[in-house]
Amino acid sequence: IHVAVLMGGWSNERPVSLMSGNGVADALEKVGYKVSRVDMDRNVAQVLAGIRPDVVFNALHGVPGEDGSVQGMLDLMQIPYTHSGMVTSVIAIDKELTKQRLVPAGIPMPKGTIVESESLYVADPLPRPYVLKPVNEGSSVGVAIVKADGNYGNPIARDAVGPWQEFDTLLAEPFIKGRELTVAVLGGKPLCVTELKPKSGFYDFDAKYTDGLTEHVCPAEIPKDIEDYMMELAQRAHELLGCKGASRTDFRWDDELGRDGVFVLETNTQPGMTPLSLVPEQAKQMGISYEQLVDLLVKEALA
Ligand code: DAL
Ligand code: MG
Repeated sequence: IHVAVLMGGWSNERPVSLMSGNGVADALEKVGYKVSRVDMDRNVAQVLAGIRPDVVFNALHGVPGEDGSVQGMLDLMQIPYTHSGMVTSVIAIDKELTKQRLVPAGIPMPKGTIVESESLYVADPLPRPYVLKPVNEGSSVGVAIVKADGNYGNPIARDAVGPWQEFDTLLAEPFIKGRELTVAVLGGKPLCVTELKPKSGFYDFDAKYTDGLTEHVCPAEIPKDIEDYMMELAQRAHELLGCKGASRTDFRWDDELGRDGVFVLETNTQPGMTPLSLVPEQAKQMGISYEQLVDLLVKEALA
């Protein structure tokens, strides 16, 4: 079986995707697949038509690998691929569309609002502290926490540096104090809960990808009822969005509020797949090696 591992691309998460893709490709070779590593450029359809793989392992992160574009192209070319399909990807990449799908079904999420970046210089869209994030980026690219103590100015100053300078519209959400947790779903079943403890206090891009800057506690040391609730929410989000393969749902938990303090931030349809990423780590905790994990994902795509 010939697997093309699609990686790289031109999103802001290109470096992360290259790590995911090369990790996956190494593991697939160990399992015994014939592997082509494809660093995606704008001729990707031609490249794939040339090498004619049996299946694509999608190791892309961000736009356009995670937003349905690549999925739609692969559908048209009739090449099976790992992870979620086109429609799921279109919804899940967009944090606002995700809310529109999940909140009416009873998934607790922070009540956010879409703001024009220009308006931030006039007034805060929400009481401080709040979080500003692009609707369709990953890895915390472009995320800023506007604190109660007036960082960035009050209102935000024109010369302050932040994502409002690069993105015309942003999602503003109340900042949920407390803890950062995540749950992977594989084969339709939640794996376990991991707590992320960034040394800086903010689980941003550097904290995510610099060794030693974040402690992962897996399984998380949290009460059993909260653990069960998060696993149930991750599984339901995966189902409501129609995810396939592996997904990862990220949470904040204000532990002073118990169950009422649990909030889903988003579901990632193309979660990080480097050998040290969270999904492989949870799989390992459940007795599934990295090689077994990538093999499972390929087999599911081909089924
Ligand atoms: N966006 C990164 C890759 C993640 O969700 O793990
Ligand atoms: Mg994400």
